[in-house]
Amino acid sequence: MPKQYRKKESCTIIRQEQVAPDIYSMWVQTEAADTARAGQFANLFCKDKSRLLPRPISIAQIDREKRALRFVYRVAGEGTASFVEMKSGEKIELIGPLGNGFPICGSDETAILIGGGIGVPPMLELARELKNASQVVLGYKDIPFLKEEFEATGSRVYVATESGSMGTKGNVIGAIMENNLGANVIYACGPKAMLAAVKKYAAVKKIRCYVSMEERMACGIGACLGCVVKTKDKNGHTGVKNACVCSDGPVFLAEEVEL
Ligand code: FES
Repeated sequence: MPKQYRKKESCTIIRQEQVAPDIYSMWVQTEAADTARAGQFANLFCKDKSRLLPRPISIAQIDREKRALRFVYRVAGEGTASFVEMKSGEKIELIGPLGNGFPICGSDETAILIGGGIGVPPMLELARELKNASQVVLGYKDIPFLKEEFEATGSRVYVATESGSMGTKGNVIGAIMENNLGANVIYACGPKAMLAAVKKYAAVKKIRCYVSMEERMACGIGACLGCVVKTKDKNGHTGVKNACVCSDGPVFLAEEVEL
């Protein structure tokens, strides 16, 4: 995959709202909407210039007509907490779209989209692009968010909650089995343990599986090496070949990466 070089853009925040505890939705007017695809992300910069490194945030929705992108993010530290303070009309700097995005499956194929926690939002644009063809399995600790928006795409939506507050009590694999879902292709984004379980399930069922490993990202610009994952390829010198989630991913064929 060729490295992407994009310039920083000063964008206007159109709308910002809270969608769940610690989870916020922000629409931003940006040229990046012209070429963005499901599964890509953008690097958002904090207003406080002392925080030099941007925060990589996945694209949850694309509105090409309005040239706008939606980011649904979790407050995970001071950087993301500073985004919450920003109001509509204010400027935010971003670089995007970045990353490879999800390959779109054939129209004759059946897909299961799996999102866990803050891995739920990037599945929304994918569900919209797959147009009614998909089954969506959403995993939460306790309180679901974006569920109605997935239903509005025409997808069949199944929920798993660890607390049992809604849907299957347990994890996303439990929901797939309980509802007897089948597919030719699986797309998944979420915590590493969930991706490992999905990868195992797909291998047993012989289903092609793509995982988005964006949870592993920190700086998003290849500066911290905090996102390195081992791939199944071997480098002749060291015997291992690593990939950077931010610059080589965030989407990989599950069988190609160690989880
Ligand atoms: Fe820092 Fe990839 S997230 S190098």
